[in-house]
Amino acid sequence: MTLKGRSLIEPSDFSLNEIEEILRLADRIIQEPHLYSEVCKGKVLASLFYEPSTRTRFSFDAAMYRLGGQVLGFSDPSTSSTAKGETVADSARTIAQYSDIIAVRHPKEGTALHMSRYADIPVINAGDGGHQHPTQTLTDLLTIHHYYGSFDGLTVGVCGDLKFGRTVHSLITCLSRYSNMRFVFISPEELKIPKYVKEKAEDAGIPYIETTDLESCIGQLDILYMTRVQRERFVSEEEYLRLRDFYILTKEKMERAKEKMIVMHPLPRVNEIAVEVDDDPRAVYFHQVKFGMYVRMALIMKLLGLEAPQGR
Ligand code: NCD
Repeated sequence: MTLKGRSLIEPSDFSLNEIEEILRLADRIIQEPHLYSEVCKGKVLASLFYEPSTRTRFSFDAAMYRLGGQVLGFSDPSTSSTAKGETVADSARTIAQYSDIIAVRHPKEGTALHMSRYADIPVINAGDGGHQHPTQTLTDLLTIHHYYGSFDGLTVGVCGDLKFGRTVHSLITCLSRYSNMRFVFISPEELKIPKYVKEKAEDAGIPYIETTDLESCIGQLDILYMTRVQRERFVSEEEYLRLRDFYILTKEKMERAKEKMIVMHPLPRVNEIAVEVDDDPRAVYFHQVKFGMYVRMALIMKLLGLEAPQGR
């Protein structure tokens, strides 16, 4: 099956081969970006952000512009007809008339899937509530691949708000499809990883441990994936304030980590990584951002069925 015309709602929509096809194309774009600067000429991305975003929105927009395409959309839904009570289904049907592909972020779980049922063009989930964030996962996979060359034999620690952090849900469900992995879930008791995500690892026979203590396990990790406590998903502000500084990665803690461990973070960072860690060569989170743009370029091309320039 080709990727042309498909939607991406969660990583399991694509086979591992299809995911690797996207990563390979992203790699080729990184090597020779100028070759791709007109691939999307005449194509329009609708960028619909019903929830705040910096990286995801800009990287989708940047990806489309760098492919020679154009972007329409909003980053503040109060300026759209949603404010007049239009349903997401009607918005999807309408916007599909103006564009070739949609990227949508929404606070409500399931919205991207819902939209994909009404739009007759590809829909990409750019984050749906506390559920999934598949393009961040593609970004993360490309980053891991860059530093480790494969996904085999890695011990991956994810730390912070594992309950509401959609980037973690997507990453762990996706990595569970690779063999020979190990996971370490590091979170406060109140923010443990959801059962449905753990079950993916269990079903695949991937060993994992759950702990509240970062310091005691940091030395075992090949990857430490830090996350922000997701303030906007808390019912109680008091509870958020109590948990937000539960983990702070410092230089001192980094001394216990392997020399080759990499620190990733989907960003934005709040307080969970001290700024002093940024200069550590193992801190790769700002490089990760750039991989996000390249992988979205590759994804857009694949879903629109556009070929790499002649001769490639
Ligand atoms: C993440 C998100 O929106 O889920 N950010 C991002 O897309 N890079 C992580 C977060 O907001 O904490």
